[in-house]
Parts: sequence; structure tokens; C-alpha cells
Amino acid sequence: MYKIRYFSATNNSKYYAYSLYEEMKKDIDDISYEFIDINGEEFKDDVLILFFPILFQRLPISLNTFINNSKFENTLIYVYAGSFDKLGIVLNDLKNALKEKDVTLASFKIVKVPNNNIIKLWGKATGEFSASIILDKGRNEVLKDIEKIKNKEKDDVNKIKIKYKKNKYTKISYKKYEEEIAKLGDHFMINSECIRCRTCQMDCVRENIDLIDGIITFKDKCEGCLACINNCPYGAIEYEDITRGRRRYKNPKEINE
Ligand SMILES: Cc1cc2nc3c(=O)[nH]c(=O)nc-3n(C[C@H](O)[C@H](O)[C@H](O)COP(=O)(O)O)c2cc1C
Ligand code: SF4
Ligand code: SF4
Repeated sequence: MYKIRYFSATNNSKYYAYSLYEEMKKDIDDISYEFIDINGEEFKDDVLILFFPILFQRLPISLNTFINNSKFENTLIYVYAGSFDKLGIVLNDLKNALKEKDVTLASFKIVKVPNNNIIKLWGKATGEFSASIILDKGRNEVLKDIEKIKNKEKDDVNKIKIKYKKNKYTKISYKKYEEEIAKLGDHFMINSECIRCRTCQMDCVRENIDLIDGIITFKDKCEGCLACINNCPYGAIEYEDITRGRRRYKNPKEINE
């Protein structure tokens, strides 16, 4: 069976996953498309197609957790990693996560995505017009691979060389990285615009957000995806002073599931 799974904070990766699903289902019956289940899944003789954004030059923690908690038997994996900035060591992280699993990494591709990283010092969310152009191009890139995926063709992923910029996150082990990012919520602050709608809580894949005594509170298992900050309808979540007055990322594409 063909299984498309995605992780996405602001629907860029979701848009690519959905676009592929819409095209492939026209001639394939046994195909599914879902948000990743971080508790894991069982794959047997399947083709798994993964979509996710690169975060802090690393594999998103929910993706790593999904792989760790899943069971694989003779699974072929195609990967599309969304990148706006630095590619980082995401392929190394992925290979480590897949080590000792009964999988073949058939392809690993970087797809250009708009930027939603508004906690970076000079970070600016891509505007809707430019985002739309980037997403159209990225979609076309992904759709070019349909025949390859259908025919279960493989690239030589060992030939891929990823250049990265050394920073505090690329220098540490994945475990240490997870520990560092988990505490990111300590920097998040709720302003007076919050109406306690709980959108952020429902959006958080890590279940890192709670409403305690009427106040939105962040726990200690964040993965830094920024779904909460970008998607809050009232712009009520700030990252220290950095995001104050800064445009949030808004995905211009409609996904009619
Ligand atoms: C905290 C954070 C860190 C990011 N780090 C990187 C990075 O290291 N390299 C990169 O290419 N893109 C990086 N991005 C950009 C995202 O990959 C990009 O905005 C992507 O479109 C988000 O996809 P989504 O809508 O599917 O969540 C980062 C985004 C966030 C929020
Ligand atoms: S999404 Fe925004 S307004 Fe809604 S509960 Fe969260 S912080 Fe408050
Ligand atoms: S708290 Fe916000 S940034 Fe952290 S994992 Fe949840 S949604 Fe993502």
C-alpha cells in the first residue's frame, strides 16, 4: 500500500503531501494520506512517503518519535524535507533514526518552502503572494516524482552530500538536541489578546500546551515547530520580545479535504 504521512505546523508540508495524494489517488486505490501518529504505526511491504519541514537544521522531533515508535517490515521510504534556509544534518538524523529498521530509503529530496521561522533574530515570515509562488513550484517538483514512486524506483541516497552551517544545534547529539528544544516553551509568553480558544492546544503535536487556571501554559516537551505562535488567531503568543509586532506566517493555499 502507498502511505503518505506528513508533519506540518503551518500546512506547507501538508500542502505538498495533499497535492501528491490528490494526484496519485486518481489511479491508485490503495493509498492513504494522514498526519503522522507519534505513537507509531505498523508498515509491512508498504511504500511510505514522508513530508516534513526542516527545523533548526535537524529532523523534527515528532518525526523521530514517529519512526522510533513504528514497526517496519520491507518498507520503501520516499522523503520530502521542506527547507527555507539551511539544510543542516537532517539526512544524518534520518539515517540514524532508520538504522536497524527493515526499510530502504529510496529517495531523499529537499523541497523549497516559505519561511515560518519568526523567532529567529532577523526572521521574517514569507508574505502570502511569495508563499503562493514558492508552493506552486514546490508542488510541481513533488508531482514530477509520481511515476518514480509508482514504479518503486530508487535514487542513490548515499551520494547526497548535505552542506550545513555549524551552530549550537548541529554540534550536539540528537538526544541533547531534543532536551534543548524541549525547553523552548520557557520563552513563550501569552499576551492580553488571548481569548482561551485552545486552538494552540489542539494544534500542538507534542501536547505541550495546557490551560491551567485559565492561563495558557507551556510544558517541557516542545519541538519548536511554531504552530502555536503562527496559527493563534489573535497573535497572542510571543517569543520573548522578538515576535512582538512581527507578521505571523499565513499559508495562502486552501486544502479541501
Ligand atoms: C523554529 C524553526 C526553525 C527552522 N529551521 C530551519 C532550518 O534550519 N532550515 C530550513 O531550511 N528551514 C528551517 N525552518 C523553516 C521551515 O522549514 C519552513 O518554514 C517550513 O515551510 C515549515 O513547514 P510547515 O508549514 O510544513 O510546518 C525553520 C522553521 C522554524 C519554525
Ligand atoms: S490560540 Fe491564541 S487565543 Fe487561542 S488559546 Fe491559544 S494563545 Fe489564546
Ligand atoms: S508548544 Fe508550540 S512550538 Fe512547541 S511543539 Fe507545541 S505547537 Fe510546536
